[in-house]
This record gives sequence, C-alpha cells and structure tokens, in this order.
Amino acid sequence: MKNMTTFITATGVIGLILTASLVMGDDDKYERNERDEGFLSQLFSKKTDVAPVKNAVYKEECGSCHFAYQPGLLPARSWKKMMGDLENHFDENAELDKDTQIALTKYLVENAADDANYKRSRRIMNSLSKNDTPLRITETPYFIRKHDEIPKRMVQDNPKLGSFSKCAACHVNAEKGSYEEDDVRIPGIGKWDD
Ligand code: HEC
Ligand code: HEC
Repeated sequence: MKNMTTFITATGVIGLILTASLVMGDDDKYERNERDEGFLSQLFSKKTDVAPVKNAVYKEECGSCHFAYQPGLLPARSWKKMMGDLENHFDENAELDKDTQIALTKYLVENAADDANYKRSRRIMNSLSKNDTPLRITETPYFIRKHDEIPKRMVQDNPKLGSFSKCAACHVNAEKGSYEEDDVRIPGIGKWDD
C-alpha cells in the first residue's frame, strides 16, 4: 500500500515537471529539435533572455558609439578576438588604455555566452560550430534565423533605422536583457506582426 502511494506521488511529480517544461518551451519546433538542452536545465533557466549589463565602465566605454551589447550574446573566443584588435574595430578606432582593455576583456569573457544559464545565450552557442568566431552578433546563425522574415525596407532601407546592429532601436527592453517578440517596435513602422 505504502509503495503504491509512493509510486503514484512520484508519477505525479514527474508528470508535473514534464507539463511545466512543455508549457515553458516557447519556441518553434525547429529549435526544440536542434538544441541539446536537458529539460531540467531548461526548467531552471532564468526568465530573461540574456544577463543585463551591470558593469558601469563597460556601459560607458562600449556603449558610447552603439548599444552596449550584453556579453552573453557572443562566445568568449569572439570577445577575445575583438578586444585584441580594438584599433581596427569595424572601420573605427575603439582603442582603450591597457588597464581598461584588460578589465573589460575579463568582464566579457567571464560573462560570455559559453556558460551562461540564459536561454538566448545557449541558443546562440548551439547555433555555432566550435571553430566559428563571429565578430558580429548579427552574423550568428541564430540571429539570422530569428530576423530573416523582416524585410529590408524596415531595416537597411528604413531611414529611421539603417541596420540590425541597433538592437535597442527595435527591442524596447533590450537594455534589461529582454528580447521578447512582443516588445518589438520598429522605428517608423511600429509593432511587429508575423
Ligand atoms: C568609436 C566607436 C565605437 C566604440 C567605442 C565601440 N564600438 Fe563596437 N562598433 C562600432 C561600429 C561602427 C560598429 C559597426 C556597426 C554597424 O555595422 O552598424 C560596431 C560593432 C560592434 C559589434 C557588432 C554588432 C553586430 O552587428 O552584431 C560588437 C559586438 C561591438 N561593436 C562591440 C563593442 C565593444 C565590446 C566595445 C568596447 C570595447 C565597442 N564595441 C566599442 C563602433 C564602436
Ligand atoms: C528591425 C528591428 C530589430 C532590430 C534592429 C533587432 N531585432 Fe531582434 N527581433 C526583431 C523582431 C521583429 C523579432 C521577432 C521575429 C519573429 O519571431 O518573427 C526579433 C527577435 C529577436 C530575438 C528572438 C526573440 C524571441 O522571442 O524569439 C532575439 C534574441 C533578438 N531579436 C535579439 C536581437 C539583438 C541581440 C539585436 C541586435 C544585435 C536585435 N535583435 C536587433 C526586430 C529587431
């Protein structure tokens, strides 16, 4: 009798966990198939998409020309490569003094997508092969897949926007690390309806 009760309780608990993990999986089937995330890690992963930037020096130095991209949007190897050549940073000179360069490289590497327990970081990592070292978030397969339905006239040819690199121009909560589809407002266009 006691064993039976234990069995029923255990089955109930497993059922609840399975249901919860199904309800929490919010992405399309394609992603569910390709990622190799255990459902327990999915269950306990954080709600925000990526960890928000808390480093004030980073915000100031790397957020002066563009949005301060969260470290969890690229792997450590990408940040190391970028930080090793700031003089030639996308046709700009973004050079820093040696100490700041060392400190910010450390910050980026420690918070990179590789080990981050945030869902978008994991999906970006899963979309890359081991020897891909992208210097642009906008060139990762995950990013491209997520944005491939948005027509050029709304981005590159949009006089109020111009490029996908301006995350926060469309994702109104990007600074908080949230990239939910519902919080997208495209400049001059408005809400995104796919
Ligand atoms: C002097 C201006 C300037 C500074 C300072 C600067 N950047 Fe940039 N960054 C650029 C430009 C220009 C681009 C290319 C943007 C574009 O194509 O629209 C860029 C692009 C990027 C991209 C790629 C965005 C994409 O398209 O996915 C990343 C990542 C990036 N910068 C990180 C950094 C980091 C980290 C720092 C601080 C160490 C930094 N940037 C400082 C000018 C700057
Ligand atoms: C033109 C405005 C625009 C810009 C700029 C833009 N995005 Fe998006 N993004 C969207 C739209 C629209 C979607 C939803 C697309 C869909 O699912 O059909 C989206 C989806 C996403 C998603 C997936 C969200 C989800 O709920 O599945 C992530 C993550 C994301 N964007 C990150 C970024 C990052 C990081 C940048 C900057 C490097 C960026 N985006 C720049 C419009 C934009």
